[in-house]
Amino acid sequence: MVHQDIYQKTILFATAKHHEIGQKVPGTDLPYLVHLSNVTMEIIFASQFSFDFDTGFAVQLALLHDTLEDTDTTFEELSSVFSPRVAEGVLALSKNKSLPKQDQLTDSIERIKLQPKEVWSVKLADRITNLQQPPSHWPLAKISNYHTEAKFILNSLMGGNQYLENRLAAKIVEYKSFNFILHPLLLPFIAFATFHDVLITLHSIHSYIQRVAPRSLR
Ligand code: NI
Repeated sequence: MVHQDIYQKTILFATAKHHEIGQKVPGTDLPYLVHLSNVTMEIIFASQFSFDFDTGFAVQLALLHDTLEDTDTTFEELSSVFSPRVAEGVLALSKNKSLPKQDQLTDSIERIKLQPKEVWSVKLADRITNLQQPPSHWPLAKISNYHTEAKFILNSLMGGNQYLENRLAAKIVEYKSFNFILHPLLLPFIAFATFHDVLITLHSIHSYIQRVAPRSLR
């Protein structure tokens, strides 16, 4: 099958699965397909700069990467409709929800590392796509954690795909600007600290004048 036909078959399957459960892009009213097509777009652009890269396989993984985690799709279904190789890749890209939340990403990354480089590439593309301006309701701790996670993904999957690694590294730098939003509750403390500094500075100037200025200036 040519890449365009693979894309057509896979996007219809994935869109229907996410649509069935009414899944939207988090924080918006947009269909989840927008996320899937963004990840796939990253993969298609990267494929032009990647050697030894199975584009058809990577496109399947990109479009299907959240079907096991989010919808009622089963491993057997992916195996028979696509291939066991696709099902294995998507499984590695899915979090194991029975583990404690803080272990789920590390566990998925460890399983991704046992898979072909196309699977690594989809994880990189997924995080590139997700490193956009965070929703306004996200607390700073969550933004900061997302930033740290992105660096962990990049470091763990070094050697997966040079082009996507560079893309993710650039997105991580951009995302830094969202990680330093001043929490309004901190403002009174900063104002107090500044006022305190001003008083200390004035006091030092005063002491200095007392010590060095000629008696007539005091
Ligand atoms: Ni995703």
